Amino acid sequence: MVPVSTKISPLLEVVTPIPQEDRKRQADLKEVPAIVASALILLALATSILAWALTEVESPGEVTSGEDQTEPVVPDMEMAEPSKGVSEGVTERTYSGVLLASGHATSTEYVWSNVMLVWQRTVFHFQPEKNWMNDPNGPLYHKGWYHIFYQWNPEGAAWGNKISWGHAVDSKDLLHWYHLPWAMYPDQPYDLNGVWTGSATTLPDGKLAMLYTGETEDELVQDQCLADPVNPTDPLLVDWVKYSVNPVIYPPPGIGVKDFRDPTTACRSPAGNDTRLITIGSKLGKTGISLVYETTNFTTFKLLYGVLHAVPGTGMWECVDLYPVSTKSVIVITQENGLDTSVHGLGVKHVLKTSFDDDKHDYYALGTYDLQADTFVPDDPDLDVGIGLRLDYGKYYAARTFYNQNKQRRILWGWIGETDLEAVDPMKGWASLQAIPRSIVFDKKTGTNVLQRPEEEVESWSTRSKTFHDISFEPGSVVPIHVTGATQLDITASFEVDETLLETTSESHDAGYDCSNSGGAGTRGSLGPFGLLVVADEKLSELTPVYLYVAKGGEGKAKAHLCTYQTRSSMASGVEKDVYGSAVPVLDGENYSARILTDHSIVESFAQAGRTSVRSRDYPTKDIYGAARSFFFNNATEASVRASLKAWQTKSFIRPYPFIPDPKS
Ligand SMILES: *[C@@H]1O[C@H](CO)[C@@H](O)[C@H](O)[C@H]1NC(C)=O
Ligand SMILES: *[C@@H]1O[C@H](CO)[C@@H](O)[C@H](O)[C@H]1NC(C)=O
Ligand SMILES: *[C@@H]1O[C@H](CO)[C@@H](O)[C@H](O)[C@H]1NC(C)=O
Ligand SMILES: *[C@@H]1O[C@H](CO)[C@@H](O)[C@H](O)[C@H]1NC(C)=O
Repeated sequence: MVPVSTKISPLLEVVTPIPQEDRKRQADLKEVPAIVASALILLALATSILAWALTEVESPGEVTSGEDQTEPVVPDMEMAEPSKGVSEGVTERTYSGVLLASGHATSTEYVWSNVMLVWQRTVFHFQPEKNWMNDPNGPLYHKGWYHIFYQWNPEGAAWGNKISWGHAVDSKDLLHWYHLPWAMYPDQPYDLNGVWTGSATTLPDGKLAMLYTGETEDELVQDQCLADPVNPTDPLLVDWVKYSVNPVIYPPPGIGVKDFRDPTTACRSPAGNDTRLITIGSKLGKTGISLVYETTNFTTFKLLYGVLHAVPGTGMWECVDLYPVSTKSVIVITQENGLDTSVHGLGVKHVLKTSFDDDKHDYYALGTYDLQADTFVPDDPDLDVGIGLRLDYGKYYAARTFYNQNKQRRILWGWIGETDLEAVDPMKGWASLQAIPRSIVFDKKTGTNVLQRPEEEVESWSTRSKTFHDISFEPGSVVPIHVTGATQLDITASFEVDETLLETTSESHDAGYDCSNSGGAGTRGSLGPFGLLVVADEKLSELTPVYLYVAKGGEGKAKAHLCTYQTRSSMASGVEKDVYGSAVPVLDGENYSARILTDHSIVESFAQAGRTSVRSRDYPTKDIYGAARSFFFNNATEASVRASLKAWQTKSFIRPYPFIPDPKS
C-alpha cells in the first residue's frame, strides 16, 4: 500500500506552529506602522527617521518581510517533522507539530514518560526491532519455515525514505521470529522510490517468485517487478535477486501511473496447466477495480480483457487478495481446512478482499470466481466489496493471506498502525505491528461470512491460566478477574443471557444500534452491554470495555454487536478515542462468546468464533505494568448474565537481533 497524492496536505499548513521566537517577531512587525506614523509626524526628520526605524527592526539576521514568515527560523529546539506518509496518505493520523522530538510539549499535549513509551511495545505481536513498518508482504511457508516480509523503513520510525522489504523467519509457533537482513532495498531505476507491496508464488517448476510493486523516483510510476531467492534450497531464503528484465508490467493505457499496485499470488488458470493468473488493484474515476493478467512463464504478462471486479464509489483498491474457501462439510479431514490458491470447482467459494485507500479499511465479499470470464461474482450484491463486510471493525489494514501447505491452512496477516500522535513515533523508535496470524475458513453455519481465528499455534503461547466457571453477574456489576500479568492475556469467555426478557422488556425495537454512534458502554439496555474491561486500573480511571450489546432487533429477536470503547482508555490527549464495532450473527442455541487478546498497547477481540473482529490500540498512562487489571462487567439494566471465562497469561518474547539461525536446527 502506498501514497495516493503527492500534494502537501493543507492540514499540515494549518497546524504547523509558529515557534515562540517568531511569534515575537510577528509582534515586532505590527509595531512597524506605528513607528512609521510617528516618524512622518516629525517632518523635519521624516526621511532619516523612517530609514532609521526600519533599519532598527531589520537588524542583521532578523526576519521581517511577509514572505519570510512562512519559513520560521527554528530556534534551539528540534522540531519533529511530519512524515511523508501523512501527506501522501499512508497513514491517516493527524500530525501535531507542537510535540517536539525532545519530548517537550506545549501545554495542550500530553508528555509521555519513557517508562510509558517502553510499555507500549508488544511482547507477542510481530514487530521489527525498530523503525516504521506497514503492510505484510509475500508471506509463505517454505521447507519448514514461516516467512514474513514487510514494508519497512530502514532509516526511521516514519513512512518514507527508502521503503524496503524487512524479513523474518520462524520454524515453530509463529511467535519465535528471527529477524533476518532486509530482503530487498530500493536500488534500481524501477524501484528507487520504494520496494512496495507484493506476494509470493510457487511456480510449476517449484521455483519461488516474488512479484512486487516498485515506484520510479522521477515520474513516480508504479510498475510490477520480480525477484527470486538466490539460493532456493536455503530454507531461510536470506538473499534475493531482482529479475534482470524488470519491470515486467507497466501501467496499461487508461490506468493512472500512480494507481497500479500490490499484485496477488498467482493461481492456475483452466486455460492450461502452466498458465497463471494474477490480479492488481486500481481505479477508474471513483470506481475501484482489479485488473487480471495471464502468464505462462512469469516473465511476460498479458492483460486480459475486462476486470476481475469493479465497485463504483469505492476508490482506489490496494492489496487485493483473492482466495478460495471450502464450503464442504468436513468428512475426511478432521480439521477445517484452508485451500490452496488454485483450488476451484465444486464445494468452493472465493473471497475477494480489497483495502480501500480512501478510508483505510479492509473489505471483503464472498462469491464465485468465474474461471471462463475471469470475473468475480458476489453471492449477494448487497454484500459486495465495500458495501458489506469488513475483515475488522477497528484499526486494521492491508491484510494478505497465504496457504500453509503443511497444515492445509489459509493464514491471514494484517497491518495495525498507531492511533496516537505521529510525533510520538520517533520517541518510541518504532511504529506499527502485525495482528496475530489468524486462520480463515468459511462460516458454514451462517453461509454469509468467513471465520477468523487466532492460528492454532497461538494456544501454545500461553503459560498460566485461570478459570471461572458459570458465575452469575447481576445488572450493573463490575467484578475483578484476579489474574496476574493483565497486560498480556488471552481470554475466552462465554455468556448466557435470559432472552425471554426480550418479550417482556419495555425496550423498543432497536435495530438501529451501532457501536460507533450509540454512546458506548455507558448506554444501558435491558440485555446489555456486558463483557470485559481490559487494560484497566484498580480505580477504573482508565479502562477499555470490550462488550456485547444485545438489542431487540426485528421480529423481537436478539441482535448482537461486538464493540470496543476507547473513550476512557487513556487520560492522555492526542490519542484516538473511538468506539469501534459491528453487528455479529448469533444463531439459535449458541451462547454469546468472545475471545480477547491484550498485549500492552493492543487489544484484539473476536466474537462468535471469529465471525466479527475488532482491533484497537491502547495508550494508557496509569494501568501499565503491574497496575493493569481486568474486570467482568454487566451494564444491562434487566438481564443478569451467566459467564464462564478462562484467562491465560501469555509468554513474553524478546527477539534476538540480528541473528541468523541454523536452518537445520
Ligand atoms: C501439464 O503439462 C505437461 C507438459 O507441458 C503435460 O505432460 C501434463 O500432462 C499436463 N498436465 C495436465 C494436468 O494437464
Ligand atoms: C514468455 O512467454 C511469452 C509468450 O507466452 C514469450 O513471448 C516470451 O518470449 C517468453 N519469455 C521467456 C523468457 O521465455
Ligand atoms: C455503565 O453505565 C453507567 C451509566 O451510563 C456508566 O456511568 C458506567 O460508566 C457504565 N459502566 C461501564 C463499565 O462503562
Ligand atoms: C453457555 O454458557 C453457560 C454459562 O457459562 C454454560 O454453562 C453452557 O455450557 C454454555 N453452553 C454452550 C452451548 O456453550
